[in-house]
Amino acid sequence: MALITLEGIDGTGKSTLVRSLEARLADLDPVFTREPTTAWTGVAVRRGIAEEVDPIAEALLFAADHAAHIATVVRPALAAGKLVISDRYSDSRYAYQSVVLAGRIPDPLGWLRALHDGWTVPPDQTFLLVLAVDEAVRRIGAHERREHFEEATTLEKVQTAYLDLAEAEPARFVLVDAGKEPEEIATFVEGAIRRTVERSRARRRR
Ligand code: TYD
Repeated sequence: MALITLEGIDGTGKSTLVRSLEARLADLDPVFTREPTTAWTGVAVRRGIAEEVDPIAEALLFAADHAAHIATVVRPALAAGKLVISDRYSDSRYAYQSVVLAGRIPDPLGWLRALHDGWTVPPDQTFLLVLAVDEAVRRIGAHERREHFEEATTLEKVQTAYLDLAEAEPARFVLVDAGKEPEEIATFVEGAIRRTVERSRARRRR
């Protein structure tokens, strides 16, 4: 029916938002999913991250997990008329890996887009949670996680990359101020998802 994705740098509160949406949108019976996935391809991604594998290999692992995710979860759910909500999706590659691969290959974003071209399923709507990087880093610190993506300088560049993606596709992206109260954020996103679902149902009735 519709594919909704949630994006943003680490520490913007995506996990909290997902938990809240699970309760609020239960009547729509959505399929909640995520990238990296919990399947073995996602386990391989997490191992790659933990071992700080070569960045090209890492990007390809993320893309492989995405392909498997689409084949086993996203396409079947959409074909069954379901609402799919994914915590991270292709824009995570376009934002994070374009930063990680800068200087390594000539045109990281072009390379990443070409890698997805022809088989990825573009989201209908993407919520981008935006937060001051120092605040995001403070929140990450609370769970004491330190993946190589979570350095402040990297997150600063990743957030800029996300904002560039949003600027290029204003019809798909919805910017969310992640500094607001979690309940306020959840109410706003819930309302926007319900409107998207309504629009998609109206299109199918025509
Ligand atoms: P994340 O969803 O934050 O997992 P967790 O909540 O378990 O830490 O993803 C792990 C990290 O991987 C995060 O820092 C973002 C990064 N990432 C990419 O660099 N590219 C991608 O395509 C995806 C999906 C995630």
